Amino acid sequence: MNHISDRRTFAIISHPDAGKTTLTEKLLLFGGAIHLAGEVKARGAARRARSDWMKIEQQRGISVTSSVMTFERQFDGIGGVTFNLLDTPGHEDFSEDTYRTLTAVDSAVMVIDVAKGIESQTRKLFEVCRLRNVPIITFVNKVDREGREVFAILDEVAEMLQLDVTPMTWPMGTGSDFEGIFDLATNRLLLPEGPSREFQGKVIQTTGVDDPQLDAIISARNLAKVREEVELAQVGYPEFDAEAYRRGDMTPVYFGSALKEFGVDSLIEALAAFAPPPRAQPAEPAAVEPTRDEVTGFVFKVQANMDPNHRDRIAFMRLCSGTFKRGMKLTPTGHGKPIAIHSPILFFAQQRELADEAYPGDIIGIPNHGTLRVGDTLSERADVRFTGLPNFAPEILRRVALKDPTKTKQLRKALDDMAEEGVTQVFYPEIGSNWIIGVVGQLQLEVLLSRLDAEYKVAAGLEMAPFETARWVSADDPADLKAFTDLNRSAMAKDRDGNPVFLAKSAWEVGYIADRYAKVKFAATRER
Ligand code: G4P
Repeated sequence: MNHISDRRTFAIISHPDAGKTTLTEKLLLFGGAIHLAGEVKARGAARRARSDWMKIEQQRGISVTSSVMTFERQFDGIGGVTFNLLDTPGHEDFSEDTYRTLTAVDSAVMVIDVAKGIESQTRKLFEVCRLRNVPIITFVNKVDREGREVFAILDEVAEMLQLDVTPMTWPMGTGSDFEGIFDLATNRLLLPEGPSREFQGKVIQTTGVDDPQLDAIISARNLAKVREEVELAQVGYPEFDAEAYRRGDMTPVYFGSALKEFGVDSLIEALAAFAPPPRAQPAEPAAVEPTRDEVTGFVFKVQANMDPNHRDRIAFMRLCSGTFKRGMKLTPTGHGKPIAIHSPILFFAQQRELADEAYPGDIIGIPNHGTLRVGDTLSERADVRFTGLPNFAPEILRRVALKDPTKTKQLRKALDDMAEEGVTQVFYPEIGSNWIIGVVGQLQLEVLLSRLDAEYKVAAGLEMAPFETARWVSADDPADLKAFTDLNRSAMAKDRDGNPVFLAKSAWEVGYIADRYAKVKFAATRER
């Protein structure tokens, strides 16, 4: 039971540049997982050099791959806590992969730049969290820089996200005037130290914001304002309610500077104290509780060619129940044969370690040769299927033009692999031999071409396709589906799993056709 209640599996969501990478690094540093700040980036850079695919990351300065980092830490009054931090690609083009990663977490930290507030990508990611009632702790970053008024930021979160907000800490001044943070719950003052005013140096216990001690510590410029603001904040916002937070109705807000390592400790403590341990996961025939004895889990990500010398791929499985032991046999639902998991991998801060045991909330990397797919359920008894990992309707469709026709087989394999990883979707038209790939964002097209070339040695180009979007079609009566596909054969294709897909010239056409064929269902997402 302890191994369930001490797990915190979470992701950081933010708009690019808000400070996610810096915060990740500092969380790992404070968690004792790495000893030198900068290591996350340094390791990232070393890894990037390894394949052409990674070059895109480098050129664009974005993170394409999502990884898992595990670290442990002791807390007074709570004991040891194991954190599983799932990194989500920050660029909006990678929304699909990011969405799936969010299906595997129990809570999220939302990082906001104090000067920018809620930005488009934060908002989109937040919506995904809301769909799944993922509770959110907000970290307002970069308080060492000039930013917006604290009240304005809090009101924006409340209004744009329709959440109750409750400030847990309060910054005293911003930018060059920044003098520390006041902890509203404990009345502690957290003060920066040193010539460059870095780090959370001193902690001073006060009796409240009116404590005369503050007169000597905080400059006259900030003092009156801080006192007034804190008083207003204490009456103006609801008290922190752990239940409301866990339901996803309230977000506690922390202020800090990831760069200057300020306020990061309070954030980790909040995760340990409030963030939910593994929750029941939606499944058929019924939701799976983490306390269930048998091992169950689902694959939320597959990554091929992590190591260019090995052709295998790693399926990332979130363990949902039971105690996983190395060598255990698990059955992927839907394709029958149990597989023995001899070399599972745990991710201790990017160093891969062989896992002997894992508990609900943990992420296990399972090397395989393509048997495991995104959305697969793995279980001891093969009697459940996790639901809710969607495939999204692609917004960009392209024809793949092969430069060397003798490479057809390799191309098909590459497209299948990448569809399986969720990098792109692939559609095989019923008529004609031009395969079509679909993506949610433009950047995925570049990733596709550069990986085709680097990993599969296939030179290919992309051409405009006569279609703009795709819908998975189904009908209660197979005869209705057949009637529809017979009449629309030139627009029909199969996805990688052989499911029928209708390729449409426009969103308008989808609506038009859907009206005409009332008995056929047109789905923009497909759950596996
Ligand atoms: P991201 O992963 O969300 O995209 O953001 P990242 O951590 O890469 O941070 C984006 C930029 O913001 C970086 O600067 C980083 O140093 C800076 N930054 C992050 N946290 C803070 C903070 O608390 N205070 C201040 N002042 N800056 C912060 P850069 O110049 O783009 O990159 P770099 O050259 O420093 O690596």
